[in-house]
Amino acid sequence: MTERKDDRLWGGRFERAPNEGFDAFQRSFAFDRRLLPYEIAVDRAWARALEPIGIFTATEVKQTLAALDKISGRARTDTGWLEKFGAEAEDVHHFVEKTLVEELGPLGWKLHTGRSRNELVATDFRLFVIDAVAEVQRGLEALLSAFLQQAKANIGVPMAGMTHMQHAQPILLSHFLLAHAEAFTRDITRLQHAAASADACPMGSGALAGNSFAIDRNALARELGFSRITANSLDAVGDRDFALDYLFALSGIATHLSRLAEDFVIFASQEFSYVILPDEYSTGSSLMPQKKNPDAWELMRGKTGRITGALLGLLTTLKGLPTSYQRDLQEDKEALFTAHDQLADMLAVAAGAVASTKFNADRLKTTASNPALLATEAADYLVHKGIPFRQAHDIVGKVLREAEEQHVSWTALPIDTLKKISPAFEADFAKSLSVEAALAAKKVPGGTAPENVRAAIADLEGRLNKKATKTGAKP
Ligand code: ARG
Repeated sequence: MTERKDDRLWGGRFERAPNEGFDAFQRSFAFDRRLLPYEIAVDRAWARALEPIGIFTATEVKQTLAALDKISGRARTDTGWLEKFGAEAEDVHHFVEKTLVEELGPLGWKLHTGRSRNELVATDFRLFVIDAVAEVQRGLEALLSAFLQQAKANIGVPMAGMTHMQHAQPILLSHFLLAHAEAFTRDITRLQHAAASADACPMGSGALAGNSFAIDRNALARELGFSRITANSLDAVGDRDFALDYLFALSGIATHLSRLAEDFVIFASQEFSYVILPDEYSTGSSLMPQKKNPDAWELMRGKTGRITGALLGLLTTLKGLPTSYQRDLQEDKEALFTAHDQLADMLAVAAGAVASTKFNADRLKTTASNPALLATEAADYLVHKGIPFRQAHDIVGKVLREAEEQHVSWTALPIDTLKKISPAFEADFAKSLSVEAALAAKKVPGGTAPENVRAAIADLEGRLNKKATKTGAKP
């Protein structure tokens, strides 16, 4: 084996060294070092795959695997060493090759046979996304558990349901909490879609054209835990749809967290006073001693910008790219890593804040008991008496106007007055006009009747338990 004077991965055809500024500009080790565990896993699988095709002897495989183990252990424990080699490395792939050569001498140069960093980075990044999905899914499940506990604990509490931010109809607080849980449940489906889209192994695609050494792609994929191989080498090295899918899933979660945050920020205001913010998830003012601010929720709402920003950033990077690998693709990682980290933190804070929020049951009941919220019930009552809904709506409008003129609550109008407006009003009218009756009437599946909400709670609990057993069964 000839001595190499240059340890760059591509220095052979160059006469002069790169410009220093440009060299720093094109390096990615500072952020792609995060892919090191995946890079090592791919390297291990690749070393094994090189034996049956006669590139490595069994001893060489063994030596390479031992060196990779050593590198991976040392990278975890010896920061000085990592920094030293890292400072000289162009990217994580270069880092492993350099350290491998340091360990094995010229044998270290053999591992890159038949492969390209283009397929390596795509493979590492897919493995990262698959693990990232699992982590975020655990965060979502913890948040769902917090909703479940609160929905159970507050099952008897009614509140004023709103549309257009106007009081509309009574609902159960638990129904409101489960509405958020439903959105986060959809996020799990979207996450799983992202994991399925990442679940294809590009190794064997080469730089763009494929592999000339008849490498067993399926065995490689299996060894790395992928359930399939990518179908087209040219597509495989330039495809970042799995990253888009993951960022889209993260953006969906962030958007849901942001909407939840908005609800809680409003609910914590003095005007609403629906919730008592937990001290553990609030901050004070440096100026106004009385303040307790919903910063946890505000920060979550604020951080959503950078998560959706990461999605838009990658879409923009990809939009003009020709087919196959282009160096622009190096821009796929940093924003995704940050979006992932932020979102994992947001979920942890959200789960803690939801679990420790106290709901002001008296206040919620009072708002739910505003007679105005029962106007639709009155119209429904008339419909049950055979009056077409549009007409019933009109009659109730007249009742409300009459009450306004008399300066009394419309539910206090005597039956004689009501009968003058419509003879369909009968003595049983009064008892249909309560928060309890309004809630109980909504007994369609998905409605806010207590029996339905209890069923929804049981359903969520069942789903979470099933997930817990599934995760628990894994080694
Ligand atoms: N650092 C590169 C990236 O993140 C690795 C692939 C480099 N390939 C190349 N042909 N220069 O995309």
